Amino acid sequence: AAMNRHFISVIAGGFGTGGGTPAAAGAAQPAGEVVAISAPDTAELLREAKNVIIVPGYGMAVAQAQHTVYEITRLLREKGVNVRFGIHPVAGRMPGHMNVLLAEAKVPYDIVQEMDELNDDFPQTDVAMVIGANDIVNPGAQDDPTSPIAGMPVLEVWKSKTSIVMKRSMASGYAGVDNPLFYKENNRMLFGDAKKMLDEVLVALKA
Ligand code: TAP
Repeated sequence: AAMNRHFISVIAGGFGTGGGTPAAAGAAQPAGEVVAISAPDTAELLREAKNVIIVPGYGMAVAQAQHTVYEITRLLREKGVNVRFGIHPVAGRMPGHMNVLLAEAKVPYDIVQEMDELNDDFPQTDVAMVIGANDIVNPGAQDDPTSPIAGMPVLEVWKSKTSIVMKRSMASGYAGVDNPLFYKENNRMLFGDAKKMLDEVLVALKA
């Protein structure tokens, strides 16, 4: 289900960036309250889940967290958890960015799926784990016609039972827009560097 070239170039060129230059991070205004979660509590939710979808983004690449992501995936699968990866066509900063990192970390290909292949499965998903992604999971792209990214297809992580967003701060992503996902009632924020926090999740899972 490859996206057509026009679509890729439109988005890669930068929704809401006025022509390709990244907007200043943190420019968006806060729009509500967020609920933080700890690494041990994240591990507990993952351990109790039947179905998990991991959505990686640019921040996973920055943190070089893919190997720890693999270790967590392996452990959860050993415990019988159904873990899959949802890959947005413009996740990261270049085409195939996430696929390359996950392949390097030896994540099995058959659990790495494109957005269109699993976007309908979030309502049956217990935990959607967003690792250093932002614009590609922004519900404003669907809900808010005035959003600079209006019309961009997004992974519907907010439809899962619980979404957990891993990032260091409330800063915006590449497109420079606030993300209403963060303020949803079923969303939790796991703040910190993705590698460091995932290492803590892994330790808690092994305990
Ligand atoms: P972004 O929307 O840029 O979000 C990435 C998030 O990662 C940031 O909000 C940042 O939040 C977080 N992050 C950065 N370093 C981190 C770290 N060490 N640990 C944890 N989190 C970290 O990325 P995305 O969701 O992957 O979306 C891609 C964006 O890039 C889209 O807007 C797309 O149009 C654009 N783009 C894509 C391409 C291609 S071809 N893929 C090319 C050009 C542009 P904090 O700062 O709070 O940590």
